[in-house]
Amino acid sequence: MRFNGPNMKLKIAVLPGDGIGPEVLAEAIGVLKALNLDLDLHDGLVGGIAIDTYGVALRDEDLKLAQAADAVLFGAVGTPRHSDPRAAVRPEQAILGLRKGLELFANLRPVKAYDSLIDASTLKPEVIKGTDMIILRELTGGAYFGQPQGQSGQKPNREAVDTTFYTEGEIRRLMVMAFELARGRRKKVTQADKANVMATGRLWRQIGNEVAAEYADVKYEDVLADALSMHLIRTPRNYDVIATENLFGDILSDEAAMLTGSMGMMPSASLGDPKNAHGFRRGLYEPIHGTAPDIAGEGIANPIAMILSAAMMLRWSFGLDQAAERIEKSIEKVLTDGYRSMDLKSPNAKMVGTKEMGAAIIERL
Ligand code: IPM
Ligand code: MG
Repeated sequence: MRFNGPNMKLKIAVLPGDGIGPEVLAEAIGVLKALNLDLDLHDGLVGGIAIDTYGVALRDEDLKLAQAADAVLFGAVGTPRHSDPRAAVRPEQAILGLRKGLELFANLRPVKAYDSLIDASTLKPEVIKGTDMIILRELTGGAYFGQPQGQSGQKPNREAVDTTFYTEGEIRRLMVMAFELARGRRKKVTQADKANVMATGRLWRQIGNEVAAEYADVKYEDVLADALSMHLIRTPRNYDVIATENLFGDILSDEAAMLTGSMGMMPSASLGDPKNAHGFRRGLYEPIHGTAPDIAGEGIANPIAMILSAAMMLRWSFGLDQAAERIEKSIEKVLTDGYRSMDLKSPNAKMVGTKEMGAAIIERL
């Protein structure tokens, strides 16, 4: 995909959200501006701050703003004040509503162990060195959206239900994407399910094998998700593309983040169908870390995951591969030059805050 024209306008919805979201997103915008791209930015309020301002986590107006844009840059949502799980209105509804409302069914979470950060992980260097995988998480189905969902009854007879539901079409489009991704990488797809317990797992396994038959050049394996969670930290180099349903993908990707040393390093892309009316692939780009309320407002959050997410946006939504690479290279350089944010504490490093990290990345573009 290349749409690389001189007058290409990048129409982007900017949704910083709560906590450190606005701080890290400001740095990502700074990096995009430094690349002299023609940015057409539209700001919206979502999450806890939208609940405080409008009474809901995601207004129709803000969903429409996101739908009208070609890409969405998203910070993070959630605050301690809005953390009551029984509340009818919760900040997380913003991200779930955007995923569903934009039909972003494929969530790409690259997990890469940077050589210069090898000591930041709690795992042994010889285990994680060379790790480079993508977790491809299904994002608009499964227990997150299946009906019925809810709680009923009174103490001491309360009940709750969640439903894991998948259609063939939902599974197939994700598996096709997994094989396409693997073709451009090390040509291996691992599908994780609970086929020994769940009917949905058995369907994932059937369809995984059917799609695999159409990609003879790509190696395919299916594994039980619990076993994979073990293999992931024992032999992470064995994995290239891991395709899995929504809930397992949520859990496995947080686990995998620890292979990189810090959640502050992990970007993500949530993609919809290949092309919208403007010829772009619609996507939402967010760091996988949360709002980090304990450090919000202190200017010490690591902006790298957010900046890498902006690079993913240039690549996946706008086909600007070279600009994306410039950002990625400059981040590698900043790390080898010894710059570290507080989540990557290491002796003899140049410890910097959010803004200084952003500036150091811009200097090296
Ligand atoms: C993630 C997050 C979300 C999820 C929450 C905030 C709803 O954990 O993006 O991984 O569970 O999908
Ligand atoms: Mg998660």
